[in-house]
Amino acid sequence: MSAFLGIDIGTSGTKTVVIDPQGRLLGEAMQEYPCFTPRPLWSEQDPEHWWQATLATIQQAVSQAGIDPQQVKGIGLSGQMHGSVFLDQQHRVIRPAILWNDQRTAQECQEIEQRAGSREELIRLVANPALTGFTAPKILWLRRHEPENYARVRHVLLPKDYIRLRLTGELATDVSDASGTLLLDVARRQWSRELLQRLELPEEWFPCCYESHEPTGTLRPEVAGQLGLSPQVVVVAGAGDCAAGAVGNGIVRSGVLSTSIGTSGVMFVHCDQMTVDPQGRVHTFCHAVAGRWHMMGVNLCAGGSLQWFRNQLCLGLTAECAASGTDPYQLLGAEAARVPPGAQGLVFLPYLSGERTPHADPLARGAFVGLTLAHGRGHLVRAIMEGVTFALRDSLEIFRELQVPVEQIRVSGGGSKSPLWRQIQADVFGQDVVRLVAEQGPAFGVALLAAVGCGEYESIEAACDATIQVAEHIRHDPQATAVYDQVFATYRALYPSLKQHFQAMDRW
Ligand code: XUL
Repeated sequence: MSAFLGIDIGTSGTKTVVIDPQGRLLGEAMQEYPCFTPRPLWSEQDPEHWWQATLATIQQAVSQAGIDPQQVKGIGLSGQMHGSVFLDQQHRVIRPAILWNDQRTAQECQEIEQRAGSREELIRLVANPALTGFTAPKILWLRRHEPENYARVRHVLLPKDYIRLRLTGELATDVSDASGTLLLDVARRQWSRELLQRLELPEEWFPCCYESHEPTGTLRPEVAGQLGLSPQVVVVAGAGDCAAGAVGNGIVRSGVLSTSIGTSGVMFVHCDQMTVDPQGRVHTFCHAVAGRWHMMGVNLCAGGSLQWFRNQLCLGLTAECAASGTDPYQLLGAEAARVPPGAQGLVFLPYLSGERTPHADPLARGAFVGLTLAHGRGHLVRAIMEGVTFALRDSLEIFRELQVPVEQIRVSGGGSKSPLWRQIQADVFGQDVVRLVAEQGPAFGVALLAAVGCGEYESIEAACDATIQVAEHIRHDPQATAVYDQVFATYRALYPSLKQHFQAMDRW
């Protein structure tokens, strides 16, 4: 029997899974590492930590799987998108990697629009506007602020592609992750020569671009030896974590959309044809399915909002739960379930880390609006769940407006483990949603891509059909949807009214 590894270089840690050709999980391992904030709004990591976590989790996951390591035939790589790893001529890391959630590049985003000609022209070239989290503004930041480091740069890699270099010695990336650099001609699935020239960035700094299932190399003999794996193990191109997670949820056909409520919230829809939002509110990236695209809206603080509430405002409850071995989220969910839709006139804006979709505003802030003495903790929790779901609906409305087909919505992520939050999603979207039997995330998605790349399946669609099943349909309640339609109108009106105040608050 063959086995396939999926490795996800996440922000909190690296996760490795081992699957068999039927997609059954044989072993998994996770190792955490720190994220550094040397200044407010900065976010950096040491690529060496990713590498050490990769080696450790491969060994643990393979040993847990109880297989002969020689059975491993392929590896898929996934990871946090948009991060920049700057390498010198000898492939040495020049400075810590700057991550997707780093907000230092507002000035460089403006510079990119100016050099491109205009925001519209930039969207024409690379399908997306410049956002602080993307890779290209980070390179320009290095040029402006650390010229001595910039002078040494010979290669710029994304996080998972640095791990590929260490595993195989190859400089390569895949089209889904490359889309998030803001330097890819997303329509042609190749680097945008035009934009690179306008930004005065050398094309040879950027690695070869592959479709996600394509092999990019085999293990370096010394790495294979250290891990006990065969040097013939194929490493496929893989995908950015959003596209990889979508493959893991079977979002590989037109009409299928996934919502994911983790720390951040992601609305991800498959597109057979490339569709671009002329206003740049949602992203258009290449999909991990060859020759296809996807659109995506990202909310920076989704499950993170409820986690903040639990950590900051429920200390007593958390301590009691720890003592009795109960899950605080379950108790909070039960309190929220006793409150009617609309939380009796309480609305929550989940912009605790600023917001990306649809406002692209690092200065946006969270808010509870409409508090009265009649509101208790259950109302606050329900309002948080509803507010996060309204933020997701903002993306859904843009997809609907652009006439992207949305026939089936698959809910996923930690937040969707709550039955109440699943129901709120169906009711707020005004559309039934489904839950999958087993939800494995990006590492599983790229392990499937490795199985496709090694010839186990003829296509990604076939791999998903054989391994992913729907467990439950959640019907929406038209009465609740009617209430939510009204609350959503208020929710949408609040950000424009508060925006100027958020900007003022930043100066206090
Ligand atoms: C996607 C994004 C995040 C990162 C971190 O655009 O910024 O989802 O990939 O996981």
